[in-house]
Amino acid sequence: MSLLLVAKKRDFSSLENALLEKDPNLDVEIWPRVDKKERVTFAVCWDHPEKVLGNYPNLRAVSSLGAGVNHLLDDKSLDDDVPICRLITGSLQEQMAEYVLNAILNYRHNFYDYVELKKKGSWEQKGIIPKDNTSVGIMGLGEMGKHVATLLEQQGYKVSGWSRSKKELKGMDSFAGKEELDPFLNATNILINLLPLTPETDGILDLELFKKLKKPGYLINVGRGDHLVEEDLIYAFDMGYLQGACLDVFEEEPLPKNHSFWNRKQIMITPHVAAITPAKEAAELLVENYKRAMSGMELLYEVDRERGY
Ligand SMILES: NC(=O)c1ccc[n+]([C@@H]2O[C@H](COP(=O)([O-])OP(=O)(O)OC[C@H]3O[C@@H](n4cnc5c(N)ncnc54)[C@H](OP(=O)(O)O)[C@@H]3O)[C@@H](O)[C@H]2O)c1
Repeated sequence: MSLLLVAKKRDFSSLENALLEKDPNLDVEIWPRVDKKERVTFAVCWDHPEKVLGNYPNLRAVSSLGAGVNHLLDDKSLDDDVPICRLITGSLQEQMAEYVLNAILNYRHNFYDYVELKKKGSWEQKGIIPKDNTSVGIMGLGEMGKHVATLLEQQGYKVSGWSRSKKELKGMDSFAGKEELDPFLNATNILINLLPLTPETDGILDLELFKKLKKPGYLINVGRGDHLVEEDLIYAFDMGYLQGACLDVFEEEPLPKNHSFWNRKQIMITPHVAAITPAKEAAELLVENYKRAMSGMELLYEVDRERGY
């Protein structure tokens, strides 16, 4: 039995070391050099090549190397009865909450303007957007969203959240389902996207949605690139629905060099780094799920294939 690490481009050396430190008896293989395909019983994937999973007839489970799983759900070469799980760790949640708080502070304190002004050697004082004039709305209150909501509430922000089912979180107004999306948007001016990418949420961040936000609107997209209709973001700036955006995820990654977003002052760009799973914590969960899969137990953070997340 072996555990296979698969990605098109990734240096797996620190994860391999962490896995072997956690369990020295583990047989770890790294794609594409796989000795015996039949021995592979557990695969860990991130941006893996299409159809590659079909080569391993004895897979008992597959794990994403991150919180998102759409790359695995979309893979037709993976049998429907192979369970899929994902990596959720305390550090991942903490980093995500810090990233979002940092994006809000940079926006409220006009730091992006100061970066531009510094290039010109220009001493120009800008105001601060008052905290009590901002209403933060979080789309998606799962493993990441709940954590973000808690930190923002502790920081004194007015927070609301939108999910499929109602939630009870201290200090947060909960909105649920399609029928409550409009009231949620009408009460929000800083919008944070932490939805999973599913057929229902693909392209959800569009002009119609931006139009319903309270002004001035600001977008933080840390979910997936395909949630955002990229050209609608530009229209939303032009029409005054949004003042700016902080984007960590994109339709195409890496963001192409000639993409118009690079030249937009209103857009802060980070290269899909909002939350990165540390190797040691990843190894702990992967070894646990590997053992569970080998003994037929329920996996931790297993994905509901029907729901798509
Ligand atoms: N940029 C990065 O570095 C990074 C890092 C980690 C994660 N992510 C991304 O962050 C996102 C969230 O991850 P997660 O682990 O928090 O997800 P999760 O635990 O699966 O939570 C998903 C949340 O979205 C809600 N939801 C799903 N479909 C919905 C719909 N159609 N309408 C309304 N609400 C819906 C769910 O509602 P219920 O609770 O009612 O089911 C749940 O609250 C994912 O897109 C993931 O890929 C990005």
